[in-house]
Amino acid sequence: MIGRLNHVAIAVPDLDAAAAQYRSALGATVGAPQDEPDHGVTVIFIELPNTKIELLYPLGEDSPIQRFLDKNPACGIHHICYEVDDILAARDHLQSTGARVLGSGEPKIGAHGKPVLFLHPKDFNGCLVELEQV
Ligand code: CO
Repeated sequence: MIGRLNHVAIAVPDLDAAAAQYRSALGATVGAPQDEPDHGVTVIFIELPNTKIELLYPLGEDSPIQRFLDKNPACGIHHICYEVDDILAARDHLQSTGARVLGSGEPKIGAHGKPVLFLHPKDFNGCLVELEQV
């Protein structure tokens, strides 16, 4: 059911410093910051030949990224995103296996303008999983 790895998301305490490191030290193609108020994040996408890295920084009150950084001051991988062809069919199938979908269970529009859902990390080996319909 799942397709390509769309991106790996890393929560960072200093977005400018992280972007500069990917640009200068790692020589990557780094995009511009985008605010995503529906998700409580500011994101920067880094384009790699085979996937993307998503740098996440808290936006606004009650950001899930702020809660993550409070618990993980050293930062780290926040989630991984897999592509699916049909997000509602994927959700219904996952729920039939007992996996929990976060929030209302309805897809939200993600940073690429496409529908996304998040799956409970406790159901996936401690890893928060995002599904994106492509
Ligand atoms: Co993501």
